Amino acid sequence: MSMPLLLLFLHITFFVVAITISYGPLLLLRLAYRTGEVGNLRGLALVHSGLGPLTFVMYMLGGIFGLLTAITLHVDLLAPWLVIAYVGFAIAVLTGVTENRTWPIRLAEVVKRTPDGPLTPEIRDLYMNRRTLAVLVIDIVWVPVMIFDMVIKPFS
Ligand code: HEM
Repeated sequence: MSMPLLLLFLHITFFVVAITISYGPLLLLRLAYRTGEVGNLRGLALVHSGLGPLTFVMYMLGGIFGLLTAITLHVDLLAPWLVIAYVGFAIAVLTGVTENRTWPIRLAEVVKRTPDGPLTPEIRDLYMNRRTLAVLVIDIVWVPVMIFDMVIKPFS
């Protein structure tokens, strides 16, 4: 296997792992929310709140191997599709170290001290406030946009 192919393999693998461990628990937490029961959120929220550092490392490794792939392939590092990738990566890191880092921690704290039973207004607000929903929309749009950018390489 050539060096660029090996780096591309690592690039894709680390991003797949990063997306799985960040989006998977988030999806389950949204589905658990729909059951309306605090008990169904608690275990998931506690597990998800501890995944931040590992998720961060996986995204970083995905980005680093992407850059190394580009360098070894002798791709123009300022090609439009790569600039889009840098912006997309920066957005993922920015939301990852702010809202997507603090939200699971805040949720875990709330469900730890809330007894089993129906969802409280505090929990409903955590899920449905405008900031959280805005970041959720960014997260949902991000994956297809990045895959489109990588495969189609627009403007190039
Ligand atoms: C810092 C950001 C990124 C950089 C520098 C980067 C760089 C690259 C490079 C150089 C290639 C090889 C393109 C080729 O073979 O011509 C590639 C392919 C690929 N990247 Fe990225 N990438 C980045 C972000 C992402 C993200 C966020 C994802 C997934 C969400 C992703 C998924 C892929 C996939 C699936 C391929 C294979 C595309 C194909 O062979 O058609 N990349 N990337």
